Amino acid sequence: MPTKDPAQDLVARDAAVCWHPYTQHGLEDAPLAVTGARGATLTLADGREVLDAISSWWAVLHGHGEPRVAEAMAAQALRLDHVLFAGATHEGAVRLAERLVELSPTGLERVFFSDDGSTAVEVALKIVVQWWQHKQQPGRRVFLALEGAYHGDTFGAMSIGDPDPFFLPFAPLCFEAARAKPDLAAITAKLDELGQRAAGVIIEPLVQGAAGMLMQTPEFLRDLRAVCTERGLPLIADEVMTGFGRTGALFACDVAGIAPDLMCLAKGLTGGATPMSVTLARAEHFDAFLSQDRGDAFFHGHTFTAHPIGCAAALASLDLVLERDVPARLEAIGARIHAHLAAELDPAHTTDLRQRGGIVAFDLVAPATKNSSGEATGYLAGDPAALRRRAIELGVLLRPLGNVLYAMPPACTTDAEADRIAAAMVALASG
Ligand SMILES: Cc1ncc(COP(=O)(O)O)c(C=O)c1O
Repeated sequence: MPTKDPAQDLVARDAAVCWHPYTQHGLEDAPLAVTGARGATLTLADGREVLDAISSWWAVLHGHGEPRVAEAMAAQALRLDHVLFAGATHEGAVRLAERLVELSPTGLERVFFSDDGSTAVEVALKIVVQWWQHKQQPGRRVFLALEGAYHGDTFGAMSIGDPDPFFLPFAPLCFEAARAKPDLAAITAKLDELGQRAAGVIIEPLVQGAAGMLMQTPEFLRDLRAVCTERGLPLIADEVMTGFGRTGALFACDVAGIAPDLMCLAKGLTGGATPMSVTLARAEHFDAFLSQDRGDAFFHGHTFTAHPIGCAAALASLDLVLERDVPARLEAIGARIHAHLAAELDPAHTTDLRQRGGIVAFDLVAPATKNSSGEATGYLAGDPAALRRRAIELGVLLRPLGNVLYAMPPACTTDAEADRIAAAMVALASG
């Protein structure tokens, strides 16, 4: 029976047919019924407005409904909506590839398009595995990743990610990967152990997002680059979250002044307006696949590879990133929120306040929580649902990672909005 309340109606219909990501439907609150979004603000069906302090899963870069991106997509849809990218090409894809090669760290010269962060990572792993085969070293198949690493939810990405807690049910089907702490001695020891089985190293440079916004120093990244170079191992930078200004430079690798061998980009690539991702690789990777044998080709592709509307969005977004100096604006927003938090957080209840560019995070010192398998830690710790509920009451969308509270707002966020985000985080931390 429809009610007079459109929000309740939508939520009831949703409950009957939808299955949400990362959601325990037996436990969690009803989803927010969102009817619109503009700038940093989401409008809910009941008329409330909520500040999107996490850029809707770290994607929305400029702000919701950015007209320049929306207009570029609309014009492209009328000009050329979709065409397969095997045996065909189009201006948007070539132009975007040219721009990414120009703007990304030196040496990345080939662009492989796919759909989202996970597929960008799958592509990087598959390129490296097949590249080793072309180099007559097929035994090199084990990637090293950091403890807590998160690179996406497809099987390859899960395999190199830290299984705990997201991937435990699938661990028996995942392939072998090595894991080390973000510590150079630990990493070199693991690589020594792997010897000729090592395929490469993958990292979320400077900030490990899903692990709880854990931050590394630029020096660590430089040292890691040197280790990979010494050993002839490809370094894959997963900049799915950190790309396009989130860390205060265009790419996190730029902060450290390093160039990876492969780089994965998604989320902010289109300004967060539509799904699209890319994997950038060096000429030596591409060249190793050249042969007179069709079987040596890179057999990977998706229906919507290099989708023209996505390319149009990405080109418009890139223009805005440069015109508006988005990295600097995000850094300023991050610094403002950080300053508030540094002054106002109660050290008795919080720890490890940290900032990198537009990403600000701290840990809540919370009593231990339990789940069916004992003490809940990491992502499953604390009561993030209660924190989310309280944040919405304060007019801010926050989504804690376990006991880690963080903000990563879009670049359009005004100083007054940044202050409201900081105030909500302080209120949440005060219980
Ligand atoms: C570093 C990193 N890599 C990969 C992914 C997966 O991206 P997607 O959710 O678009 O598949 C994410 C998603 O949060 C991420 O943070």
